[in-house]
Amino acid sequence: MYEQVSHSLLNDILIGLDPKVDSNDLKHFYIRLGANFYAIHSLFHQLYGDRRDFRLQMHKLVEVMAKQYTNRSSELRQSDLAREKDHDWFLSQKLAGYALYCQEYADSIHGMHSKLDYLQELGINLVHIMPLLDGPKGRNDGGYAVRDFRKIDSKYGTLKDLDNLSADMRSRDMLLVLDVVVNHTSDEHEWATKARKGQKKYQDYYYTYTDRKIPDLFEQTMPEVFPETAPGNFTWNAEMEKWVMTVFNDFQWDLNYKNPAVFIEMIDIILFWANHGADVIRLDAVAFLWKKVGSTCQNEREAHLILQLMKDCCQVTAPGALFIAEAIVAPVEIIKYFGEDAVNAKECEIAYNATFMALLWEAVATKKTILLEKGVRSLPTKLDRATWLNYIRCHDDIGLGFDDNDIREAGYDPQLHRRFLVDYYTGQYPASTATGVAFGRNEKTGDARISGSLASLAGLENALLIHDEAATAISINTIILLHSMIASFGGIPLLYYGDSIGTLNDNTYLSDENKHHDSRWVHRPRLNWDNAEKRHVEGTVEYRIFHPIKKILAIRKQIPAFADLNNREMLTISNPHLFAFLRFTSSGIHSRVLVVANFDTAAQTLELKDLEAVNVFEHTQVRELYTDKVLSTRHGQLVIPPLGFYWLQL
Ligand code: GLC
Repeated sequence: MYEQVSHSLLNDILIGLDPKVDSNDLKHFYIRLGANFYAIHSLFHQLYGDRRDFRLQMHKLVEVMAKQYTNRSSELRQSDLAREKDHDWFLSQKLAGYALYCQEYADSIHGMHSKLDYLQELGINLVHIMPLLDGPKGRNDGGYAVRDFRKIDSKYGTLKDLDNLSADMRSRDMLLVLDVVVNHTSDEHEWATKARKGQKKYQDYYYTYTDRKIPDLFEQTMPEVFPETAPGNFTWNAEMEKWVMTVFNDFQWDLNYKNPAVFIEMIDIILFWANHGADVIRLDAVAFLWKKVGSTCQNEREAHLILQLMKDCCQVTAPGALFIAEAIVAPVEIIKYFGEDAVNAKECEIAYNATFMALLWEAVATKKTILLEKGVRSLPTKLDRATWLNYIRCHDDIGLGFDDNDIREAGYDPQLHRRFLVDYYTGQYPASTATGVAFGRNEKTGDARISGSLASLAGLENALLIHDEAATAISINTIILLHSMIASFGGIPLLYYGDSIGTLNDNTYLSDENKHHDSRWVHRPRLNWDNAEKRHVEGTVEYRIFHPIKKILAIRKQIPAFADLNNREMLTISNPHLFAFLRFTSSGIHSRVLVVANFDTAAQTLELKDLEAVNVFEHTQVRELYTDKVLSTRHGQLVIPPLGFYWLQL
């Protein structure tokens, strides 16, 4: 019955389609719409079916998809067809990513062209350029408060510049990742301005309330994202004489997806950027998309329905474009952003592996891998057509979102252990050499997170300051070890700009009135190109970091077992400093690779009898793929150097 309703509605919509749109070659659009319409209709109905204007809204949605399809270039349409055929293309081990701020990295979008060579030299072929859209001049949360979703901020360049860049990247086989900040707008966005001036239509784009009744109910269960700088989740707007929901900063107004107009605007914007060459769209703060009194307003079922609907709509118009879920939430929740009840990803194909990231930092601090192993084992298996972004550092803080049970099972008290980690990385712990900064300390809960560049957190800043070569080597080895982990775990390694040349903390944010309150700016520096040049000079820190990372990426690309096909088996090792897993493919060269990492600053022994169950060593020798050396296994042991790793070909 439902299907019949869906078919007849589709007929009506297609008959009523704008003739301008309909006159285009819509063959593939119609095929995809036919294939996805039942799902789109069902999801849209679940979200908005109780509205009297449901059919009208449905019609508008299809019109937006069709309009954007007609705007899609023939080149991108061809690429859609190719990617549809090779639908697992993004699971390949050949991808390697890099996230950067355009201005800090290359001054402008135009400046990016000449800096792509550097990325290619390193082996990068996927580039996330952080938010480029028009935003307020002062505080704008690093571009995550958007004033105009279709306009490039003039400080970076123009839309034409971006089109040129995406064309250049396509010709170099590099993928472009752009943000769409779906959860909120800047308070200077046209919708917010109109809402402030009293237009009911736009007040309904947000969560606005005349008194504290509902805001107070919400506050009972909603946590605070930025407790130090933006406590509470609502802001009073005197001009509108209303409270508005502002989960992040007070200048970021949360969009109300209970209003279908918001959904339709957003899908239009997503498709707009897909048409401007974004291969991958990073959907910001997706866990927050649906708000419900009595809940944390995170990870709500409807937030998933919205993402499924976005995906299905994108499938119709721009099926080659992928989504990244930026959902930094508990491990069991993160996995759901791939889509829950489907074999293939039905929400976002890619998600940040925040769990693995935080676990790696835990292992560096403790020099032990007990929690790392437990945490990875507790990660539920993900869907087949889905992959992780594995990263060590990004533009945000490090949250210690491990599972409390895992922490207990690893033998620690959750609260004390988290406190230890914050102390460790902020240099408060006696034996620590890290020079990070606390972020988001919450006096009520005692929680805190960590800011700092990879190099500074790994002790390099401190080592260079005291001219200690042994400490410098430890820090460099830590940086390399961590990169070996994100390159071999399964998923796309995402490097953060500056990390491959050991960029240290940048404290200049402290004298900027728009930044000093937000310690995340300590790890968002201008890339120092003079330092980058030193990668060519043997013996420099830059050289010692850049080349091993480059080699890690190059070798990763040659190992098909490193493609992300749910082909990892965790191994339990008796030595608590070692972390080991097996990667495999069904056939071909390097079809089984044993990854072993030593998180201790002393050499550690791997007892081969630990691995008997997986029958890994048939011979008395084994080839290590990173160094291309043959190691002897004759004595039933392998010694892993301090902070070293092996990629052993079985
Ligand atoms: C995401 C961004 C972060 C930003 C927040 C609010 O988490 O990564 O930088 O502050 O969204 O937009």
